[in-house]
Amino acid sequence: GALWENYSQKVAERMDNPKYRGELTEEDAARLGGKLVVADWGAESCGDAVRLYWIVDPATHTILDARFKSFGCGTAIASSDMMAELCIGKTVDEAVKITNLDVEKALRDDPDTPAVPSQKMHCSVMAYDVIKQAVALYKGVDRESLEEEEIVC
Ligand code: FES
Ligand code: FES
Repeated sequence: GALWENYSQKVAERMDNPKYRGELTEEDAARLGGKLVVADWGAESCGDAVRLYWIVDPATHTILDARFKSFGCGTAIASSDMMAELCIGKTVDEAVKITNLDVEKALRDDPDTPAVPSQKMHCSVMAYDVIKQAVALYKGVDRESLEEEEIVC
């Protein structure tokens, strides 16, 4: 049907087989020589929740590894999975600039065709919000003090 065709192949693959679903522990942090950050975020509109794990190099503030857990719909899972992938190798200041639109664009099969139907765009906002929460925790600052990027939903 028509709705079925509104999801990219990349979204379909990551819904079923996310590459970064899981968790990171203090042992992983010690092994990689980084600091463990565990951030939670929830979407008030639908009640879904996401948890993001980072290991951050304290000297360079580079995200060495990332994982997520999600009580979310398939689009939220695919978005969180791509978000975690986009975080790895970036500094926390680079990661905080990743928006939900960046995540959605990275999930497109074709650059001009949206990866998810417009009604599901809000499901990618959690992936953006939880990054901001992780940065705030890592820096020990209020989430509200971080600059807001433009959100499309
Ligand atoms: Fe849910 Fe925009 S964040 S509709
Ligand atoms: Fe809640 Fe998709 S419907 S995250």
